[in-house]
Amino acid sequence: EIYLQGLLTEQVPELTTDLQALEDTARQALSPSAYGYVAGGAGGGATVRANREALDRRRVVPRMLRDVGTRDLSRTVLGTRMPAPVALAPVGVLSIVHPDGELAVARAAAKAGLPMVLSTASSYTLEEVAEASGEGSSRWFQLYWPKDREVTVSMLQRAEAAGYHTLVITLDTWLLGWRPTDLDRAYLPFLQRTGIANYLSDPAFLAGLDKPVEEDPLAAVAHWADMFADPTKTWQDLAFIREHWSGPIVLKGVLHADDARRARDEGMDGIVVSNHGGRQVDGAVAALDALPEVVDAVGGELAVLFDSGVRTGADVVKALALGADSVLIGRTYAYGLASGGEEGVTHVLRCLLAELDLTVALSGHRSPDELGPDLLAG
Ligand code: FNR
Repeated sequence: EIYLQGLLTEQVPELTTDLQALEDTARQALSPSAYGYVAGGAGGGATVRANREALDRRRVVPRMLRDVGTRDLSRTVLGTRMPAPVALAPVGVLSIVHPDGELAVARAAAKAGLPMVLSTASSYTLEEVAEASGEGSSRWFQLYWPKDREVTVSMLQRAEAAGYHTLVITLDTWLLGWRPTDLDRAYLPFLQRTGIANYLSDPAFLAGLDKPVEEDPLAAVAHWADMFADPTKTWQDLAFIREHWSGPIVLKGVLHADDARRARDEGMDGIVVSNHGGRQVDGAVAALDALPEVVDAVGGELAVLFDSGVRTGADVVKALALGADSVLIGRTYAYGLASGGEEGVTHVLRCLLAELDLTVALSGHRSPDELGPDLLAG
């Protein structure tokens, strides 16, 4: 399509089709603080680099002459039919990246038919984002599990009422990681009221305030900071969520095979093998290096999703080959949002899916189900 347009009209794409280079476009579009928030990692960035290094180290060994004329990339994961095993990871406070924030992302994801996992820390309320995503969209909700039980239940009920059917509980962020890029600027987007829209619109949260938010906004922020997460939670607490959520539950941030087994034993429906894009524990194992052991431990028994470091269609292929049922992208679409709003996200998704399809085909396969570890060297 792009080549044909070039031939007929000499038009070139507005944004680069090199999704790794899109980060530079985003850097130019964003303030240094906003860019630092998105791109930054924990500590010295060892895990951000390790995520990329682990993906780059694996090399695809293409197979020839296998009739790849007809291909089908679609897959059903946790009851969600996807045109390709790709979803949009929860990324908080997207209005600092673009004024349309999560609304733009929801529209682009719905247009592509891909699930979007909405962050608890979204800049627009979960109801507003649900409406933007439209009929028939696949809505997943990510929970930063609040300390207070009533607020938790209220948030879950709101999400179910707004049509979110799959819950993703993030396990690796009971405390924010040590992030020098944000610390040095004393910049924490979550703390801007824009990142706590779901709280400021929550009746159970508001009931805990002494004064209306307009009268004492700082007290509301302090109350949120106290509520945001509870590092004393244990595996036993999951039963409480199960009582209050009827759809599939996915645990995000699993890196150890024993934790994966425990998630299975607690009756969870899926896990995301993830180190939060290298933003939490500096020096944590690369998510891709953790994936094979987790797949060995629980693959086929519950859905194993993967994220951290994915930038291209070829990266998606590598994670699928190592046994991921589906792959989530984070910064990659945030850079598209920064570069061109909804159109920018659409551009990223189209490029990613097209490159994924090409890589599957050129490596001699017709569907994600045919990809296995023997596809990779390194
Ligand atoms: C995140 N991530 C994240 N995760 C989550 O569960 N809730 C959230 O609100 C956020 N917020 C967030 C903000 C920003 C700016 C980034 C970059 C990431 C983590 C995210 O879901 C995912 O795990 C990583 O982004 C995956 O790594 P890549 O694809 O960014 O390399």
